[in-house]
Amino acid sequence: MPRLTRRDFIRIGASSVAVGAAAKITLLEPAPLWGAGRAVAPSDQIRFASIGTGTRGCELLQASLEVPGVECVAACDLYDSRHEAAQEAVQKQVPVTRNYHEILERKDVDAVIVAVMDHQHRRVVVDACAAGKDVYCEKPMSHTVEDGFAIVEAVRKNNRILQVGSQRVSSLVYEKAREIYASGAVGDVFFIEGSMDRNSASGAWVYPIPPDASEQTIDWTEFLVGAPQRPFDPVRFFRWRCFTDYGEGLAGDLFVHLLSGILSIVGTDEAPKRARTAGGLFRWKDGRDFPDVIETLYDYPNLRILLRCNLNNSENETVRLQGTKGTLEIVGTTLTFTPQETNYGPETYSTKGWPARLRNEYLAKWTAEHPQPAPLDYQTIEAETFTVPAGYSDVPAHQANFFNAVRTRKPPLENEVFGNHAAIGCHMANYAYFKNTIATWDAESKTIRG
Ligand SMILES: NC(=O)c1ccc[n+]([C@@H]2O[C@H](COP(=O)([O-])OP(=O)(O)OC[C@H]3O[C@@H](n4cnc5c(N)ncnc54)[C@H](O)[C@@H]3O)[C@@H](O)[C@H]2O)c1
Repeated sequence: MPRLTRRDFIRIGASSVAVGAAAKITLLEPAPLWGAGRAVAPSDQIRFASIGTGTRGCELLQASLEVPGVECVAACDLYDSRHEAAQEAVQKQVPVTRNYHEILERKDVDAVIVAVMDHQHRRVVVDACAAGKDVYCEKPMSHTVEDGFAIVEAVRKNNRILQVGSQRVSSLVYEKAREIYASGAVGDVFFIEGSMDRNSASGAWVYPIPPDASEQTIDWTEFLVGAPQRPFDPVRFFRWRCFTDYGEGLAGDLFVHLLSGILSIVGTDEAPKRARTAGGLFRWKDGRDFPDVIETLYDYPNLRILLRCNLNNSENETVRLQGTKGTLEIVGTTLTFTPQETNYGPETYSTKGWPARLRNEYLAKWTAEHPQPAPLDYQTIEAETFTVPAGYSDVPAHQANFFNAVRTRKPPLENEVFGNHAAIGCHMANYAYFKNTIATWDAESKTIRG
């Protein structure tokens, strides 16, 4: 692992760690992606198509250019200008269509990236699995609890590989966090908090409507499949995240990233037992259904997770695991592990209310029973920080993990079961908010109850 040069070295203030602590920074080095630097045999080449080539679909197509051994062979979207955008993203005149069934019928397509609005995930993924395609499904995996179980069933029934698109699970930083957590250095972790805040119109999903948007350029009828009928409304098409018919607000958009990352560190693959949510819509009152501040406290067995998103202030994305032996904190793409002093002295606070005679007796006894090391034997508590090289992105790494799973037929870490559990957490946050109740997961009936 390369160390930063002296010039790169940034000293962490002693105030951020225990007194006397030292700090060192290590630059994490990404492992080369499978097939990098060599010719990939035709039998290992994966041919894929993208269904949904909006903002995320195009980002994924661009990232796929960095993944060896894969080739985009078609693109599909309901909005015609996104056909052009897809061809630009993949730098190739791939065939394009509005009808995803045309892609699923093609025998030469091994896998599909599904980057459609959330309410369409189930329909496209279930059809893709039935057609024998492996699926990279964008997060959150499901729009409803029922959708999630339908997707799990479709993957199993058709023996497919599915990976959900919360790319933090494949990030170098989370990989390192998993390693430190698994080593036991953090101790027992009973509380974790995470936050993702934004303070801009873009962060609040107030996206511009493209000048050519119309019923002629957009297949509005197909967009409405799985949602209530309405007259054409470009605001709903382009700002779909704001509406319960198509999205899940901040929970489905951002909690899912935090939850997936956190659960991957602690190795938990289950739905939360309970969720309590507070929040409100304070600023972005543009007709949307969802709050712009949301905070949810989740109960997992032996663990509580507190998540927050605020669209009215911007701070670095943060995840903090508070363990009995130290704190593991991810801020942006930097991970810091700060061990905590656990070699405690005698309890003296409460003895302020004792007479000196009793206090001295107690201290003498404690000292006799706990011989202290000589001053030079004290161990320095050293915080360690890990960060990523400039320009690092976890998106190609997450795609590469998917395509490798397609080759090996070994399910990826963020498979359909993991993705379903993370999405259920999002649905529980919204259930608790909208019904003003404690949301409880009933595993038997696979439903959320109030
Ligand atoms: N992993 C991440 O960091 C990340 C980031 C952004 C978005 N996403 C996810 O990606 C998905 C897409 O989000 P986006 O921001 O790209 O939305 P978008 O509105 O920009 O694009 C979605 C596209 O899907 C198309 N579509 C919908 N139903 C379709 C169908 N049946 N057939 C063909 N095309 C269809 C629409 O025409 C639209 O162009 C969502 O699930 C979102 O949550 C993930």
